[in-house]
Amino acid sequence: MMFRIARSREGGEINHYDLYKIQTRKGMTVLDALFQIQDKMDASLSFRYSCRGAVCGSCAMLINKEPRLACRTQVSMVIDQSMKLKPFPPIIEVPHGWDKETEILIEPLPNFPILKDLVVDMTKFFDALEELKLWESPTDGDETRIQSPKDRKKIERYVNCILCAICFGSCPVNYEKEEYLGPAALAKAWRFNQDTRNPDAKKYLESAQQPKGTPMCDLIMNCVKACPKGVAPGGAIRKMK
Ligand code: SF4
Ligand code: FES
Repeated sequence: MMFRIARSREGGEINHYDLYKIQTRKGMTVLDALFQIQDKMDASLSFRYSCRGAVCGSCAMLINKEPRLACRTQVSMVIDQSMKLKPFPPIIEVPHGWDKETEILIEPLPNFPILKDLVVDMTKFFDALEELKLWESPTDGDETRIQSPKDRKKIERYVNCILCAICFGSCPVNYEKEEYLGPAALAKAWRFNQDTRNPDAKKYLESAQQPKGTPMCDLIMNCVKACPKGVAPGGAIRKMK
């Protein structure tokens, strides 16, 4: 199998694409293929990973024009899979010479500045979480705050977020509007608003409803289709709207 991989040696824009031939095996993931390239063909190839098991959220990238986790995407399934995302420039524009039938195309996650090859600068993604103050501040001293399994179940979907930023990278609004806080931060605001242990839940809703938050979302739902953990940020945003 051939891999066509975006390279950016000095950072900034994609500067060219390199082609590599991979020896595939059953169950091989895209991340395994990147290791094979790095170990045997090109030690200069840069990409992020940590857990290799869809837990840390580090290995998000564009695989055949769809944002996916490299560690949970099997090479044998890439060509047949389709998320049916609403198109926007980074997933429409294809590099010259790409043969979709025989090559897997790997590019950095859209909507972020590229640092090198497949590594992007995620500062704005984490800044949005920080800006909305998406954590709980205990106000009741050392008292244990109890939550029933039923109430926990209500926020389960949102707690599962691994902060991979695939939703941010799949969102046409994040592509067009630099200031948009993005689906993950807004879904997390809903998670804290709905958490029954939280004495000050309203503040999360209010901060999510600022102009660059929920009002900016067009409910396109690419985030729902692309999220690898079933968080469905667009559903949370719709409720907040
Ligand atoms: S909501 Fe889904 S896609 Fe977005 S950061 Fe969390 S896990 Fe990733
Ligand atoms: S390496 Fe951790 S999510 Fe892929």
